[in-house]
Amino acid sequence: MSQKIINKKILVTGSAGFIGYHLTKTLLRKNYEVVGIDNLNSYYDKKLKIDRNNELLNYSKKYKKKFSFFLIDIKNKKEVYKIFKTYNFLKVFHLAAQPGVRYSFIKPHKYIETNILGFFNILENCKNHDVKKLIFASSSSVYGATKKIPYNENFSETSPIQLYAATKLSNEIMASTYSKLFKLQIIGLRFFTVYGPWGRPDMAMFKFMESIINNKELVLYNKGEHFRDFTYIDDIIDGIVKAGNYFSKEFEIFNLGNGKPIKTLKFALQLVKTLNVKPNFKFIKKQKGDMDKTYADVKKAKRLLKYKNKVNIEKGIINFVNWYKNYKKII
Ligand SMILES: NC(=O)c1ccc[n+]([C@@H]2O[C@H](COP(=O)([O-])OP(=O)(O)OC[C@H]3O[C@@H](n4cnc5c(N)ncnc54)[C@H](O)[C@@H]3O)[C@@H](O)[C@H]2O)c1
Repeated sequence: MSQKIINKKILVTGSAGFIGYHLTKTLLRKNYEVVGIDNLNSYYDKKLKIDRNNELLNYSKKYKKKFSFFLIDIKNKKEVYKIFKTYNFLKVFHLAAQPGVRYSFIKPHKYIETNILGFFNILENCKNHDVKKLIFASSSSVYGATKKIPYNENFSETSPIQLYAATKLSNEIMASTYSKLFKLQIIGLRFFTVYGPWGRPDMAMFKFMESIINNKELVLYNKGEHFRDFTYIDDIIDGIVKAGNYFSKEFEIFNLGNGKPIKTLKFALQLVKTLNVKPNFKFIKKQKGDMDKTYADVKKAKRLLKYKNKVNIEKGIINFVNWYKNYKKII
């Protein structure tokens, strides 16, 4: 089949991460030329990041797509400058970050280095190299202690309750300032609990699955009473791509969620049902920094981006289970 590579280079930071991997693959499928950067750190199983990156390299080789990968740490000013200088990026999708709530109590400096200094390096280079559009990952955690649900994108309704969330809200403030000062088109996307194939081992879905497979107790914080707006990866990618094509005169923030929060206990029960196993739950108390409920108001994304949620929890869990069994070679 003939294909025309679109001669506009796109940078994806965190390309070996869960969302970065899926986004890169989608952009390659659409024939964009993509440069991926990642420092492949060991916050979680490094092998999973290497495997995702190998998948991207193999895919681009097999289907003659243009993908280049560079092992770069975004906190390194010189390395970030060099990649922007070498490639004349049209758009930048900035997904590299230090995620996680609990880890922010153990290694707080990682959040400042990557999420503040690293983010600043990306912003500066977008400004200095005339990048036409920057799309970056924020998080539903910026809502924190906000009581008004569903959460809408107003700044006045943010209330971070841990350092990870504070760095993400700081990103939004820095981006908004740069956008006004230097007339940059920047969009921040607040993702809500993303799950699916190639997901993150530190997140609920993956942890529940590992507990079941290894015959261990499935631990539910806050006795499974937390509500989470679980959002399937394909819906998130659809939203990111649409944000990349959206013309915004000013800095914009969009929630990308499902808009249908469910209890973590219900989510775990659905997984148990899909695997046809007996539940073995361990209910423990709420952890420091955890939000009681996340619930996205996605009206703005639906109206302006034409964002749609297509994959329900039942189908999303089946897709994850199939991928997990295949990846771990479980028959
Ligand atoms: N997954 C979710 O549910 C969720 C929810 C809200 C926000 N987010 C945000 O979305 C983005 C992507 O998340 P994800 O779930 O794919 O996480 P991930 O950890 O799988 O991906 C992040 C990638 O960034 C890389 N990275 C980290 N620090 C780096 C550095 N200093 N230099 C270069 N690379 C670095 C990591 O190695 C990793 O591969 C993050 O910004 C995250 O905060 C994710």
